[in-house]
Amino acid sequence: MALYAIGDLHLSFGTDKPMDVFGGGWSNYVEKIKEGFSQLGTEDVCVLCGDTSWGISFEESLPDFKFISELPGKKIILKGNHDYWWDTVSKMRAFFAKNGIENIEILNNNCFFYEGAAICGTRGWVAEDEADVEHNRKIMAREAGRLRASLAAAGDADVKLCFFHYPPRFRSVVCHDIISVMNEFGVKGCWYGHLHSHAHSYATRGEAGGINYELVSADFVGFAPQRVITG
Ligand SMILES: [Fe+2]
Ligand SMILES: [Fe+2]
Repeated sequence: MALYAIGDLHLSFGTDKPMDVFGGGWSNYVEKIKEGFSQLGTEDVCVLCGDTSWGISFEESLPDFKFISELPGKKIILKGNHDYWWDTVSKMRAFFAKNGIENIEILNNNCFFYEGAAICGTRGWVAEDEADVEHNRKIMAREAGRLRASLAAAGDADVKLCFFHYPPRFRSVVCHDIISVMNEFGVKGCWYGHLHSHAHSYATRGEAGGINYELVSADFVGFAPQRVITG
């Protein structure tokens, strides 16, 4: 049994935005995802770090979730900046239940446990428009609050792991609000996606300030879920 993570599957079964058009690593990416997940067993768990489906509604994203559901293992999803189908937790749960999808859980102000380790996280934030200081401050504070709620839900779990869509740090950007919450709860490792192609080189990977950072966007990891915990 093992815990895995991968981000940015960018599935498009219900829409017309296949990523193959970008060529390179994205050619035949659906087949690569299937191959990557073939290493998982039914009892394994994989956190999907956002940008999961290009669908903009439940209807459009349903074929993507059926595909994900049929891949081996349980999945825990969090929101990415392209997950326009995302809705309230109760509506998303009802949508999955109505369609017989039973192996996808939602990480949003809550946490899950894997062998005593707490799986926590939130989307995170990276300021796209740096001029809008007030907007960025508000969104960052909201995301830090969601992370705090998720980590608080972990109680006294010995190990707390964090999963994000946006990188908490990359290039010269350091998201202090997010990192200070991780420090407060003694988090030692986090996994994130969002960075693609040339932006892979911006990623912070390895230890920085007592926290280990791992980029798991699908095109960076060859479309294979990466092991977080074994056993
Ligand atoms: Fe993204
Ligand atoms: Fe992405």
